[in-house]
Amino acid sequence: MVKIDDIRKPIAADLEAFDRFVADNFSAEGDMLQEMLVYALSSRGKGVRPMLTLLAASMHSPAAADAKDDCGAEQHCSKRTYLAALLVEMIHTASLIHDDVLDSADERRGRPSVNAKWQSDMAVILGDYILARTMSLGMASAQYDLVSYVGTAMGTLCEGEVLQSQHAQRFDTTRDDYFRIIYQKTASLLGVSAALGALSVGASREEVDRMRKFGEAIGIAFQIQDDILDYNRQNNTGKPSNNDLREHKITLPMIEVMERSTAAERDEMIALLRRCHEDEAAVDALHERIVAAHGPELAQQTMQAYISRALHLVSKYATTPYQKSLIALCTYIAERDR
Ligand code: FPP
Ligand code: MG
Repeated sequence: MVKIDDIRKPIAADLEAFDRFVADNFSAEGDMLQEMLVYALSSRGKGVRPMLTLLAASMHSPAAADAKDDCGAEQHCSKRTYLAALLVEMIHTASLIHDDVLDSADERRGRPSVNAKWQSDMAVILGDYILARTMSLGMASAQYDLVSYVGTAMGTLCEGEVLQSQHAQRFDTTRDDYFRIIYQKTASLLGVSAALGALSVGASREEVDRMRKFGEAIGIAFQIQDDILDYNRQNNTGKPSNNDLREHKITLPMIEVMERSTAAERDEMIALLRRCHEDEAAVDALHERIVAAHGPELAQQTMQAYISRALHLVSKYATTPYQKSLIALCTYIAERDR
C-alpha cells in the first residue's frame, strides 16, 4: 500500500515552505472572519493539488536529473511555483466550502463543516473571501498566465456543479453526463494543478499539455474512486456512506448496474432513488442492489483505465524521485480508502 508521506518525500521541504507561504499570505481583518479562515485552512485534507503542482514543477526543472532519492530535505521550488500551488489549493478549498452549503452537508473531513458551525450565509462569504484573496494575490504578483488558467478552472467548476444539480433533480444521469460532470468538477482543476507546476518552471507547451492530461486522467480516477468509496461503509473518508444516493446523485457504480439492467429494473432503481432523500430503507435497498450487482467493482475497472492512461503519460519522463512520486500517486489514488 502506497503511503502519502512516501509520495511527499522528494518535495517534503517544499511542502513545508508552501504551508508557510499560505500562512503568510492568508489572514483576515476582523475576529470572526479570521476565526473562520483559520478553521477552514487548518484542515486542508491530503493536499493532492499542491503536491501535484510541486511534483510537476520539480520533474520539469533543469535540476531534476541530478536529484537523489533523499532530495526532499532541501527546498528547491521557486515562489512562482508556490503561488501556482496556492492558486489551485485555495480555489479547491473555497469550492468545498460552497459545496457543503449547496449539499447542506454538516461534516467535512470528520469535523463540522463551515456552514454547520457558522451557518450558510457566513460560509458563502468565507468562500468568496478566499477566492477574492486568491485572485488578488495572483494579480498582485503579476503572474497573469497562472491566474488565467485558474480563472478558467473556476468557471468550469461552477458549470460542473450546476450540471450535477440539474441531473440530480431530473434523475437522468447517463454515462456521458457523469463523465462531463466529473471532468468539470474534479478533473479540470487537477489538470490545471499539474499543468501550472510545469508552466511555473518554463516547461514547453507540449509538456504543459501533457501534464494537464496527466492531471485530468488522475482527476477522473480520483472522482470515480470517491464515488466508489461512497458505497463503502468501511471507508475512512470522514464522510457518511451513501451520501450520493441521499443527494440523488447517480454515479458510476449505479450507472454500470443500470446499463446492465432491463428497462423495468432501471425504473425500480430510479423509484428507489427518488425516495432516498427522506427514506433510509430506500437508501439501504438501493445500496444492496448496486453492491449485489457488482457496481463498485465494475466502476473500479473503468477507474483503472484512467490510471493506466496517466501512467503512460508519466512514463515518457526519465526516472527521477519526482517521476517516481507521480507514479506512486497514481497507485495511491487507485488504492485509497480515505
Ligand atoms: C465536491 O463534490 C465538489 C466539488 C469538487 C466542486 C464544487 C464546486 C462548486 C461548489 C462551485 C463553486 C466554485 C468555486 C470556484 C467557489 P462532491 O459533493 O461530490 O464531494 P464531497 O462528497 O466531498 O462533498
Ligand atoms: Mg458535496
